[in-house]
Amino acid sequence: MKSGIRIAVIGGGSSYTPELISGLLDVDDLAIEQVTLVDIPEGRDKMEIIRTFCQRLIDHSNKKFILQATCNRHQALADADFVLSQFRVGGLNARARDESIPLKYGVIGQETVGAGGFASALRTIPVALELARELEELNPEAWLINFTNPSGMITEALLRYQGIRTIGLCNVPITIERTIAQALHVSPDVISVDFLGLNHLSFARHVYVQGKDITPLVLEFLKNMSQDAVKNSVANIPKETWAPYLLDAVPMIPNPYLQYYWNTDVMLRKQLADIENGKGTRAIQVMAIEAELFKQYQNPQQVTLPELLMQRGGAYYSTVAVMLMESLALNKRREMVVNVKNDQALDVLPADSVVEVPAVIDGRGARAITMEPVPLEVKGLIQQVKAYEQLTIEAAVEGHRGKALAALLTNPLVPSSEIAHKILDDILRENAAYLPQFAS
Ligand code: G6P
Repeated sequence: MKSGIRIAVIGGGSSYTPELISGLLDVDDLAIEQVTLVDIPEGRDKMEIIRTFCQRLIDHSNKKFILQATCNRHQALADADFVLSQFRVGGLNARARDESIPLKYGVIGQETVGAGGFASALRTIPVALELARELEELNPEAWLINFTNPSGMITEALLRYQGIRTIGLCNVPITIERTIAQALHVSPDVISVDFLGLNHLSFARHVYVQGKDITPLVLEFLKNMSQDAVKNSVANIPKETWAPYLLDAVPMIPNPYLQYYWNTDVMLRKQLADIENGKGTRAIQVMAIEAELFKQYQNPQQVTLPELLMQRGGAYYSTVAVMLMESLALNKRREMVVNVKNDQALDVLPADSVVEVPAVIDGRGARAITMEPVPLEVKGLIQQVKAYEQLTIEAAVEGHRGKALAALLTNPLVPSSEIAHKILDDILRENAAYLPQFAS
């Protein structure tokens, strides 16, 4: 008989999973009965290391739940109340290709934005839809919580093409919130931030402390911040300050991913320098961090999360996952920034597109809160990137080369049709094994 919540983690062999387990061990209200890690057979060995380490975390905690690992996705899906999706099609090798192909043409090479994020979306969307189809067939009442990148596009594809209840998550909004709270020496519980935009393209428009709008104070703080003090970034993005003249012109706190759009030249130079000095793209750096992390996970003396995890970009991902599951399972009403159907939240985007905004969460799900009109200063960029996302989703689903090229042309980080064409050729060729929909 069922005694509590059952969670299936798709991509359970990820080096991030221990953070999730640790988050689940910290939560008081949620009665968790079982967590099932699921991965593909090629990932079985890594998953076993993760399972063993996570079991050690459980053994050293006061909270207990059953932890298991399997390559039998079918059974795990049939059993779950929550399915957490955090897989990466093609692993880090595919990510390394996503990041290096654009750089060959002098274009930003990044995991989730620009041409790199596009390549990842083409590979991932069909697999995410297949997962949702299976879940809908086996267990239509389950919740699908999506972390799989590019999170906004994957969530939109799922909501557009599948019936399963889906909410998309990202760790960046909470990271920004917590960083502001830290800088102001206030508890994160009294802070609330109005975000608007898309995943990895969002802006904190108002920051409130106990209901008082303190945005000007935060902007002043940002303007005076020295390069060394930049903490408002996630670990995977080179740390950069925002120029005071930019914050005067667009008085909002930009998501660190905006560096790729607004400081493209600086970011490109940094990426090219990393290649030149042998550090490699972020995927290559992550491979080295992962190798060390897995060593530490295998050490029987290691009974807490390794420090090294902080060098990964996903800080606080378990915090948002746990908060969301708590609200859904216990009908605990709270406001959270999630990736959700727009409805009326942002006036400049279609109602059925997915946006990253504050939403009311309770047992019924997530409903986007209607925001003030989107400021003209960022309206065009948001609309352009949304058009790129929608073309990418359609290209991925239909295997449509024309739409794929149009998607790249629409992306603000891709400079010309000739370069878009070359990048697309490379992406389709180097990912052929993962893109049967494009085989002619
Ligand atoms: C941030 C993003 C995630 C992304 C991660 C990459 O947290 O929000 O979407 O996957 O960084 O971090 P990594 O350490 O893998 O480069």
